[in-house]
Amino acid sequence: MPSTVLVGAQWGDEGKGKITDLISSDYDYVVRFQGGNNAGHTVIADGKKLALRLTPSGVMNPACVPVIGNGVVVDPRVLAGEIDMLAENGISTEKLVISCDAHVIMPYHIALDGAQEMRLGKHEIGTTKNGIGPAYKDKAGRTGIRIQDLLDEKIFREKLETALEYKNQVLEKIYGLPTFTVDQILEEYLPYADLIRPHMAETAQLLNEALRADKNILFEGAQGTLLDIDHGTYPFVTSSSCCAGGAPTGSGVGPKAVTKVLGITKAYITRVGSGPFPTELKDETGELLGQVGGEFGVVTGRKRRCGWFDAVIARYAADVNSLTDIALTKLDVLSAVDTIKICVAYEADGVRYDYFPMQHSVLYPKNVTPIYEELPGWKGEDITACRSFEDLPANAQAYVQYLEEMIGVPMSIIAVGPDREQTIFRGWSSR
Ligand code: GDP
Ligand code: IMO
Ligand code: MG
Repeated sequence: MPSTVLVGAQWGDEGKGKITDLISSDYDYVVRFQGGNNAGHTVIADGKKLALRLTPSGVMNPACVPVIGNGVVVDPRVLAGEIDMLAENGISTEKLVISCDAHVIMPYHIALDGAQEMRLGKHEIGTTKNGIGPAYKDKAGRTGIRIQDLLDEKIFREKLETALEYKNQVLEKIYGLPTFTVDQILEEYLPYADLIRPHMAETAQLLNEALRADKNILFEGAQGTLLDIDHGTYPFVTSSSCCAGGAPTGSGVGPKAVTKVLGITKAYITRVGSGPFPTELKDETGELLGQVGGEFGVVTGRKRRCGWFDAVIARYAADVNSLTDIALTKLDVLSAVDTIKICVAYEADGVRYDYFPMQHSVLYPKNVTPIYEELPGWKGEDITACRSFEDLPANAQAYVQYLEEMIGVPMSIIAVGPDREQTIFRGWSSR
């Protein structure tokens, strides 16, 4: 019963889409288990660059069954748009399976996401404003609407009436915003039920039967470890369990089904939105990494904050996800810099932190001093054509080996460019 959980090991956008698409040929199912269309996973096939927000990146592989698990929050408008976009690009979504238990993002979730951010003002989280937080809040509060409810008009109407009774008061009385009527939402959402109906399934059963038949499953995480609701830099996180532990709950298989955990890390770090980022570079090196790495949000177009690789975070990610392997991405981007720094520990108030600190106040710029090791770079050497570890310049090999030593997890995949072929396999196996 083999299966692999693939997770972001930093603050998202590590290259999960590329790696999922790349290794999906070894898997029968690719499953999204959390998050929603806050994700933007880039896949490049036949020179075409596509951004997937809800559909698992395994959709690019016709042999794979893409599954949207129960832990995902689904905006049907985005789903419909994505199905159309894929069709326009010649990619079939016929095999797409959607869990009957996944929660639905409603128009009022989106309105509330924006309103809450506005209320927070300078303390805003910097959300993608897609209604993710409010939808998960309703799920935990047991007032959410699920995919199966959407497919039963009577139940959908009843649940919507109950929800709107409260939501409209919040929208109007607290935020002074327009309200919604039941009929208005029904009119828009009921046609989506027809779109979803042929795809809906009890996905827990489907996946457990697949495991019994010795099918190989890949769980595709969205966001990243430091954005996890429990293990991230709370409150500057998303509202779901992005870590490996989220895969079993978000899909309905038991933890024993997971045999490998592949963490995706960039050779440096980026972050979008607010929140602490100890190794952030607010200088020309940060600008350079952003320029060369094309660090702009796939979904929102926002400029990503850039910084040096942080081994404290990487070790923490290795622990909280039980990483068995790491895929290091964007190593090619470091060809742009002279020497490369790696944060090996933090110092705050005279105390050294080798492990992720208990109190997150340590992580803020006014308190933290990253302790760096500096390694020589390979400036100007184009490594995008390297296909084996030995092809890499000696300093690039030394950088990878140093990171492995710092983290204690093998880097069995190294990406040296956005295309599928621009990859070095170094002992990775899906089983
Ligand atoms: P995800 O959200 O983790 O799937 O990552 P994104 O798609 O948001 O961002 C990663 C970006 O880096 C995308 O534009 C990818 O095409 C690109 N990318 C992935 N791996 C590499 C790599 O090794 N080198 C370079 N230069 N770009 C990469
Ligand atoms: P992928 O899967 C990077 C960030 C937002 C914000 C915080 C909360 O492409 O790596 P939300 O809309 O989820 O309530 O926003 O989380 N965020 C991401 N950052 N990559 C993502 O997804 C993200 N999804 C959410 O910027 O800081
Ligand atoms: Mg992304």
